[in-house]
Amino acid sequence: MFTLKKTPGKPFLVLNLSDPQLGDGEWAEGHKNRRILEHTVRTLVDRVKPDLITVSGDLSWAGSDHAYDMLADFLDSFEIPWAPVWGNHDNQNGPEYIDTVADRYLTHKYCLYEKGDPSIGNGNYVIAVEEDGKIVSAILMIDSHDRAPYTDADGNEQISWARLTEPQMEWYRDQIAALREMGCDDTSIIMHIPFYAYNTAAQAAYKNYDETARKTWTPETAIPGADCWNPGYEDALGVQYEGIGSYGIDDGVFEIVRDLGSTKYVIVGHDHVNNWIINYEGVKLVFSLKAGAGCYWTPVLNGGTVLKIGSVGVDGVHHEFVDVSALVAEA
Ligand SMILES: [Fe+2]
Repeated sequence: MFTLKKTPGKPFLVLNLSDPQLGDGEWAEGHKNRRILEHTVRTLVDRVKPDLITVSGDLSWAGSDHAYDMLADFLDSFEIPWAPVWGNHDNQNGPEYIDTVADRYLTHKYCLYEKGDPSIGNGNYVIAVEEDGKIVSAILMIDSHDRAPYTDADGNEQISWARLTEPQMEWYRDQIAALREMGCDDTSIIMHIPFYAYNTAAQAAYKNYDETARKTWTPETAIPGADCWNPGYEDALGVQYEGIGSYGIDDGVFEIVRDLGSTKYVIVGHDHVNNWIINYEGVKLVFSLKAGAGCYWTPVLNGGTVLKIGSVGVDGVHHEFVDVSALVAEA
């Protein structure tokens, strides 16, 4: 576990970046996607002045050694602690590849990363935030793997995005118990792939979910206003421009998180053009803004997501949008 110090009287700010996902070639000097990513991150760091930068997965594409190293050097240049979790594209060549990236990341001065128990993934670890000797909040960084099999309702074997495994949820329970023993009962999860309950949360929160969220919205046609939420979800915000890329059937993860009662915020990436924040049964489920143009994106949802930790735990999450229209328009 890492412990970072919070200054009394000031919030501790976590800037989450998601899915930067540039390939080796896009890190070439002057490449437009490199300029967009660097401008986005520099703008966010200048504006937010974070105490910690997290990266919620898909840092590049497995095999892209140069891209992983360029991103790490770039993040280290801010001289602010930064902490990654891996996404499906990081894991797509198997655990051995990303383990070699982790070895190199661990040589970076400001990189926080623990490999953890390899039997439950690459890099499940905890970052605690301490004020005056007391842990006021902790972030559980969780590896959400790549893909996994499941059996659909008709009994057919299918493959979908992965789920957190049962041993991993045991690890989660153990971390919550250990933090409680240290007097901390306020936690957040940062990971890449949304767990299944992101589907049920969206269905509960959006009016006419099937007719609207998944079918007709595009960045060009509609940004739903406040009246798109069902009663009880009026404080939700954001958009869903693509289907939720979770495990194919209910993974039971949300119920464990909700019932343990420690984790109040979950931040994921993976779905590059979703950015909603929904308070679902007492847990704020968040899609982070995506940083930069890597892979697919929409400039409308470019930026980062900020978690604000106060003296008694997390007291808010919000998106910080970064306008890159001028860079996008350049040749
Ligand atoms: Fe992803």
